[in-house]
Amino acid sequence: MSPVDGAGAVNPNLPVDRAVNEGRVPGRAEEQVPELHEVGCPPELQERIEALMGRYPDRHSASIPALWAVQERYGWCTPEGIRQAAAVMRVTPAYLESVASFYDLLHTKPVGAHRIEVCTNISCWMRGADRLLEAFVEAAAGDDENFFVTGFECLGACDIAPMASIDQRYYGPLEAAEAGVAIDQIKAGEEVLPEKALAARGLAGDS
Ligand code: FES
Repeated sequence: MSPVDGAGAVNPNLPVDRAVNEGRVPGRAEEQVPELHEVGCPPELQERIEALMGRYPDRHSASIPALWAVQERYGWCTPEGIRQAAAVMRVTPAYLESVASFYDLLHTKPVGAHRIEVCTNISCWMRGADRLLEAFVEAAAGDDENFFVTGFECLGACDIAPMASIDQRYYGPLEAAEAGVAIDQIKAGEEVLPEKALAARGLAGDS
C-alpha cells in the first residue's frame, strides 16, 4: 500500500507505515486494503464509519469508534466486520485488528449479548466488589450466549461503590444478592434494578 496522508490521498514522500500495511505482527506478509465491492459492507455501517472519519483530520483516529460500530452491528469485531471497516477506512484489516485486540471494550471473539462489568478497583473493592463480581459470575453461569461478565478497573463512579455497568448503564451501590435479580430481569426483558440505576437519579453520569 502506498503511503497516504491523513485525508487518504497518496503521497509518495511520506514514510510507509508498517503498522498500516502489515499490522504489528513481525514477519506477517504484506496485506492489501480490501476493496469496498469485495466486502459487502452494509450501507448503514458504511455511512456511519464515513461520518466518524469525517470528525477527524486523520482517518486513523476513527479506528476505535469504527470498530465500536462494527461491534454494535455484529456483537463483536468479526473478521468480516473488520474487513468491511478496513475497506471503508482504506486501511488494512491487520491495522484494525491490532487496535481491536488492544482495548478491553472491543472483542475479537464472540461474547454474550449482555455485557456486565463489575468495578473491582479500590473504592468498590473496599465495599465488597469481589463478592459482587462472584455473584454476577454465578448468576450468569452456563449462559455464555447471553452474558459476558468481567471485572473492570475504576469506572469513574466511585461514589456509588460497589457498582457495575450493565449494557453501558451504571448501577450502584449494589448488594451481591442483586446480581441474580439483575440477571433474571435481563432474561425477562424487564427494566434492570430501576432503584439502583444512576440514570434514574437524574445525574449526568448515565454512561
Ligand atoms: S473504584 Fe469503582 S467506580 Fe471507581
